[in-house]
Amino acid sequence: MKKIVITTVAILALSSTLMAAVPAACNGCHGADGAKNTMVKESVPNSMKKADIVASLNGYKAGTLNKYGKGAMMKNFAKNLTDADIKAISEAWGK
Ligand code: HEC
Repeated sequence: MKKIVITTVAILALSSTLMAAVPAACNGCHGADGAKNTMVKESVPNSMKKADIVASLNGYKAGTLNKYGKGAMMKNFAKNLTDADIKAISEAWGK
């Protein structure tokens, strides 16, 4: 019984670490490492500062940012991100 409890705790700890990473939905356009933007070639998310990624995602979430004319599309992906998600993404991609 003790073993089962320990294993469960370990699995929970591992899955919360994985959940802190960048959502898989972002990978299609930006790659797992944020190195590209399949729709706007001058946009390279992982060249941005962490604080700029946080500001951009909050802007898309609020619907106030439209840097390359595709802000409405990014709003769809940013609207369900929590502050913790946004922080984790900025840590993973930002400088
Ligand atoms: C369907 C393709 C697509 C998906 C999926 C997508 N994005 Fe984007 N992303 C874009 C486009 C297009 C822009 C440029 C929007 C604009 O005009 O401001 C952008 C812009 C950004 C920027 C700002 C880049 C810059 O150059 O200023 C960040 C950061 C970003 N996306 C993160 C994410 C994250 C995190 C996710 C997942 C939650 C995600 N994106 C999902 C297409 C996508």
